[in-house]
Amino acid sequence: MNDTFLKACRGEKTDYTPVWIMRQAGRYLPDYQKVRAKVDFLTLCKTPQLAAEVTFQPVDILKVDAAILFSDILIPIEPMGMKLEFSESKGPILYDPIRSETAILKLRQIKPAEDVPFVAEAIKILTSKLNVPLIGFSGAPFTLATYMIEGGSSKNYVNTKKMMFQTPEIFANLMEKITDTVIGYLQLQVDAGVQAIQVFDSWAGILSPVDFEAYILPYVQKIVSTFKGKLPVIYFAFNGSAMLDKVKLADADVYGIDWRIDISDAISAIGDKGAVQGNLDPCTLLGDRALIKDRVSKVLAGAKGAKGHIFNLGHGILPEIPFENAIEMVKDVHELSSK
Ligand code: CP3
Repeated sequence: MNDTFLKACRGEKTDYTPVWIMRQAGRYLPDYQKVRAKVDFLTLCKTPQLAAEVTFQPVDILKVDAAILFSDILIPIEPMGMKLEFSESKGPILYDPIRSETAILKLRQIKPAEDVPFVAEAIKILTSKLNVPLIGFSGAPFTLATYMIEGGSSKNYVNTKKMMFQTPEIFANLMEKITDTVIGYLQLQVDAGVQAIQVFDSWAGILSPVDFEAYILPYVQKIVSTFKGKLPVIYFAFNGSAMLDKVKLADADVYGIDWRIDISDAISAIGDKGAVQGNLDPCTLLGDRALIKDRVSKVLAGAKGAKGHIFNLGHGILPEIPFENAIEMVKDVHELSSK
């Protein structure tokens, strides 16, 4: 087992900088497209053999140092009682968005082993064959709450902020319910054998630092403290570069960093609170090989003082990116960082 990724998570010395890519299994890979041509996205997530197959793809093709379970952050929301659909044009749709106390009361507490058995089954297939660690994941409570309240992706998150600012107790009820679901959902993945977990807070950056601290942080801290010490916990507050002094209070082992900050400044902000993961602008991979190599070397140089560094993009890879460039990036990271 190549444990370079786990060592870097724990802040231990490594022979080279480990690398994986957020959304590394996805539409930019022709092999993924082939599987997706046969089944819709939700069926793919819910069929362990297929989910495992596409999880393996980037490990084989890109030679990354970690695999991430193929699934979606919205998967546990369906058994909570909301109808979920992925539309090719609009992205995720959640029907009957949660806008009232009554709607929150109706939400079910999920029973992971019964409601999402396919997640544990996919993990078991994967860990029996992988030669790199497997990362499990969940959405963070706030990010999941935005999808549940808005009914999908949103521009200004007005409904979310309305509930948050006008009826904070009702919003807190929702956040508590989601937090319990997230903990159960992650526990299922840990029991099935994942070796690290990442909590995706994709919309944390829509709040000001003071509201991040009030409305997001306590719930993330509860999740992190449940798993801390058992396996590495990565917290990624996307668009949170301007409030890393608050983000680091999550007390995670690793912090995901987006590309809007120089990684050396992110490391100064986090100090010895944790390792960092990031932070190349995904669109750098639209550039030529010389540009990719130059930007990779700059991130590696900037991360020299980190407690630990896991190379990644600053957000998920996009369908428009040529997969050959992703292969090249991984090669560059390995070569340029080898001691
Ligand atoms: O990283 C991986 O390879 C593991 C798989 C993974 C997916 N989604 C697969 C996916 C992970 C970790 C996610 C997380 C996720 N899902 C997040 C957090 C990360 C982030 O990007 O900020 C969010 C916000 C979602 C919600 C979601 N899922 C959206 C908004 C969309 C539609 C937009 C899009 O990219 O199409 C999805 C769909 C989705 N999730 C796809 C994949 C591969 C594309 C579906 C397809 O095959 O058509």
